[in-house]
Amino acid sequence: MAINYKDLGLSNTKEMFAKANKKGYSVPAFNFNNMEQLQGIMEACVEMGSPVILQVSTGALKYIGDSYIPNIAKAAVDYARSKGSDIPVALHLDHGPDIAAVKKCIDLGFSSVMIDGSHYDFAENIKVSKEVVEYAHKFNVSVEGELGVLAGVEDDVSAEHHTYTEPQEVVEFLKGTGIDSLAIAIGTSHGAHKFKPGEDPKIRIDILKEIEKEIPGFPIVLHGSSSVPPKFIHMINEFGGKIADAIGISDEQLREASKSAVSKINVDTDGRLAFTAGIREMFAKKPGEFDPRKYLAPAKQYMKDLYKEKIEHVFGSIDAYKRGN
Ligand code: G3H
Ligand code: 13P
Ligand code: ZN
Repeated sequence: MAINYKDLGLSNTKEMFAKANKKGYSVPAFNFNNMEQLQGIMEACVEMGSPVILQVSTGALKYIGDSYIPNIAKAAVDYARSKGSDIPVALHLDHGPDIAAVKKCIDLGFSSVMIDGSHYDFAENIKVSKEVVEYAHKFNVSVEGELGVLAGVEDDVSAEHHTYTEPQEVVEFLKGTGIDSLAIAIGTSHGAHKFKPGEDPKIRIDILKEIEKEIPGFPIVLHGSSSVPPKFIHMINEFGGKIADAIGISDEQLREASKSAVSKINVDTDGRLAFTAGIREMFAKKPGEFDPRKYLAPAKQYMKDLYKEKIEHVFGSIDAYKRGN
């Protein structure tokens, strides 16, 4: 039976983005794959009074299992309320590949979906995105579309080079699709290797500004926005891992983007790195430990601290809502 997201206590992104735009911050969109990640995200957002978008990729959905999703989303909202927090919580499908995936997620209680038509040509992207909007809006579910292609790997699709969003195509795309927010390509990319060593690690804020001029106040989304903290790369490598030449997006550039019409910033990789660093450290320092609660708790804490730091210093969404304790 289909589930309505409102019955889970979830919100769509409409008011979240309106408020973020007005106040000059961006809403954190954190991916999760397991309970500790979800707990780390929720604890951080509740303690900081930040709205949150819980992101589930199709890979994460497969890993977690459909039937768990509505129940853990509701548990996340219940957790916030039990702490006296009124933060809005959205459950979002990340990189939805087609209308079938979107329909399935809306039935599972998602309050927001992305249709990633960025690998189609312009006309096909409009057609596919419009179909999703027409369906999702019947249920008041928000829709994010994407124009431009990020370099790197997304699920099974990979692109060698960025194709930056063309500012002059944006108005036509919005009119043709009816989407609620737009993901753009300005030099961010997925994963831990966003720039090559020696390359100037800059995103194209100039293109962002041109896009904003075309669609003033319309919610813009940045994917691939992990900062890849050197601290976690060092920890991973110190404690037996091997990650070379990892470079992310600078906090300064993300902060600049947050103050503009960028309303949603996606972070997945940084959570993965913090979690992995914590587990590796624990196993290296306490090789006899085999209670998952003991080796996962510090890893969860690293994630939580990282999210809190970002909320305060990068997204600027701290104290947008009542804090919980
Ligand atoms: O955009 C990609 C996200 O980081 C999700 O990654 O497909 O490995 O879950 P995933
Ligand atoms: P990162 O790989 O930079 O964390 O990006 C995540 C993302 O864009 C999810 O859609
Ligand atoms: Zn993405």
